Amino acid sequence: MITDTLARWADEFEPKLANLLTPTDETPAELVDAMRYAALGGGKRLRPFLVTRCCEILGGSDTDALPAAAAIECVHVFSLVHDDLPAMDDDDLRRGRPTCHKKFNEWLAILAGDGLLTYAFELITTHVPDPARAASIVRELAVRTGWSGMIGGQVADIRGENEQPTRERAEYVHVRKTAALFVGACRMGAIAAGASADKVEQIGRFGLHLGCAFQIADDLLDVTATADEMGKETGKDASAGKQSFPAAIGVDASRQAAQEQVDLALACLDDFGPEADDLRQLAMFVVRRRH
Ligand code: IPE
Ligand code: IPE
Ligand code: MG
Ligand code: MG
Ligand code: MG
Repeated sequence: MITDTLARWADEFEPKLANLLTPTDETPAELVDAMRYAALGGGKRLRPFLVTRCCEILGGSDTDALPAAAAIECVHVFSLVHDDLPAMDDDDLRRGRPTCHKKFNEWLAILAGDGLLTYAFELITTHVPDPARAASIVRELAVRTGWSGMIGGQVADIRGENEQPTRERAEYVHVRKTAALFVGACRMGAIAAGASADKVEQIGRFGLHLGCAFQIADDLLDVTATADEMGKETGKDASAGKQSFPAAIGVDASRQAAQEQVDLALACLDDFGPEADDLRQLAMFVVRRRH
């Protein structure tokens, strides 16, 4: 079962991430506390799992993947800390606990997010031994995170609150705010394995469709799941007027759209054998999950 595989993998990843988030200098203790609070002790760890499996199916090891895996989780956690701020989605609950700004305060949560984003690049440049490969992983993460990736998508997400939900607008937001980091995770794993440009492209397309399926499922869960199941408040997209799939096309058509993205993701793995079975299982899991 992929749920067991993922849970076991996340348990093994946790101490490695904790270890990488140990400061060696005079870092202010409250900043360390806030960064570690946000990053440790929760989360499905889907993006670092993807980095690792994509690296492995292309001939790399989990050690090759670790700096990129930890880095993308830091970026993802930064995105969650800022996403939850009062100026954005204004949420009090994340990963079953108070959000970072509720546990600490707003200015520290903003700076903890900034710290995690920056630390991602420190991790890669410190721990990837080959400088050319490190540079290409850094570029990949920067492109997928920045103005044409996740951050651009977050702007479109908030702007979209004032517009009528449509499928086109929701797709525009989803591709950027969520799928971009999934694309980056897959491509970074491939680059860490030393894969050819063709393979990096191919695995990136898998990430794109997986990320779109994942965000449509997140929109559906916002409508259909409880806060207890999700570890975050639900039922908020509609009241905030978000460009969500259910608001644009309804629940049934959204389920169908998510499944179409899963099928497209699976087709991207046709060239691979059983070594890609975890990725196939993951693609099917993201639309079946209840958290
Ligand atoms: C939440 O992502 C943010 C979205 C892109 C919907 P996850 O559902 O992967 O969050 P964690 O890491 O498991 O908490
Ligand atoms: C997630 O969008 C996108 C990022 C955090 C970059 P949401 O706002 O839907 O995520 P949740 O539902 O708060 O986890
Ligand atoms: Mg949001
Ligand atoms: Mg949110
Ligand atoms: Mg959501």
